[in-house]
Amino acid sequence: MAQRVLGTEDLFGGYMRAWQHMTDVARELFGAYGFDAIETPAIEQVDTFVHGIGESTDVVRKEMFRVFSGSLLPEMLERGTESHLKARQRMAMRPEGTAGVVRAAVEHNFVPQGGAPAKLWYAEAMFRGERPKKGRLRQFHQVGLEWIGASDPAADAECIIVLMEYFKRLGFDPDKLHLVINSMGDAACRPAYREAVRQFILDHADEMCEDCIERAELNPLRAFDCKNDHCREVMEAAPKVSDALCDDCRAHYAQVKRYLDEAGISYTEDPTLVRGLDYYTRTVFEVEVEGAGVGAIGGGGRYDGLMELEGGKPTPGIGFAVGFERIYLALQSLGVDLAGEEPGCVYVACMPDQRQAAFSATLALRQAGLRTEADYQGRSLKAQFKQANRLGARICVVLGSDEVAAGVATVRDMETHDQVQVPLSELAEQVASRL
Ligand code: HAM
Repeated sequence: MAQRVLGTEDLFGGYMRAWQHMTDVARELFGAYGFDAIETPAIEQVDTFVHGIGESTDVVRKEMFRVFSGSLLPEMLERGTESHLKARQRMAMRPEGTAGVVRAAVEHNFVPQGGAPAKLWYAEAMFRGERPKKGRLRQFHQVGLEWIGASDPAADAECIIVLMEYFKRLGFDPDKLHLVINSMGDAACRPAYREAVRQFILDHADEMCEDCIERAELNPLRAFDCKNDHCREVMEAAPKVSDALCDDCRAHYAQVKRYLDEAGISYTEDPTLVRGLDYYTRTVFEVEVEGAGVGAIGGGGRYDGLMELEGGKPTPGIGFAVGFERIYLALQSLGVDLAGEEPGCVYVACMPDQRQAAFSATLALRQAGLRTEADYQGRSLKAQFKQANRLGARICVVLGSDEVAAGVATVRDMETHDQVQVPLSELAEQVASRL
């Protein structure tokens, strides 16, 4: 039997309704904040991610799926490396949404010099070749937004405010959410901080794992997130970014916090929150759910250097993304069903000699916008009623020979079992008024 790839899921039934609900809530809420929807391709040139996310990140080094078109494959196999391919022939599946949206912003000049910021949101599948476990998939779904062209700390605060409002609208109790924030500095102050952390790791090399020693050169800040408990303990004594911020970053961060305080958003500051993508500058944030055991359900931050990395003019930006699968699991652990109820329907049942009348009635009900089902397997009337119940029909329209001859139909309420006869010419209105 054919099986799906490990770490991927089929979305159907209530799970699919939950995903659709997440996108519906996003469309309404983000729309009110002035964000328009965007969809970028699921495959991009490798460089879009390598330049944007960073060559030394786990996402790029270990997790990004490479894509080769069929015609390139024999050549690849012969030479055994992709480095001989032209840059535009090297493709990857998007591991996250930000780099692609910023690439699109550069390509289509969304933020012309002196123009208004571009505000975009997306709901898309992402791909990362991670080891699958609960809440960690190889194909997962994110809802996210990007606000490109705004440097004001109010944009950082509003991003966090809209994120927390989104969680509330999805059914989270705000008291169960744990928002962590930090400032990672910028091009002026981060290089010196990075060097200080590198030196710290090298000074403690005999106490740290091999991955962290490798990180010292590649990406020293990632050592704060090492999976090894002992490394994290050692890193507690490492220099803190909060002590290394330049005056501009310190003032920006202080203003973000003032806005959050004014909006009544509670948060914890964690100077070791560094996130796994290299493009971040200044504000970063992450949200976890108490006791859910699924890791972060969302995260984001500012990326003032990313437009340039993608070949554009210097333009600030900020955004976030949340993970559908983790949100679904976290809400489930809190007893909230993101799927909501199955949509009710109308069922048209008929005697075997009234198929034609059932066809017309079904057509009329659907044209009136009512979700309508009927029998397509020649079942008995009794079996049709059973089917109507299984489908959760709230109303059953019954067409018998006498009724059709008299130009009427029986409309039965499946809950109360009340039934009335209505003229066939008024069927759709009569049914709609009873739903
Ligand atoms: P991220 O923290 O890598 O950020 O991912 C955002 C969310 O996606 C995570 O908090 C998590 O809920 C979900 N997620 C990530 N990886 C997986 C996985 N393997 N399986 C299931 N869920 C996962 C970003 O992707 C940034 N682009 C966010 C951003 C937007 N920053 C600025 N703008």
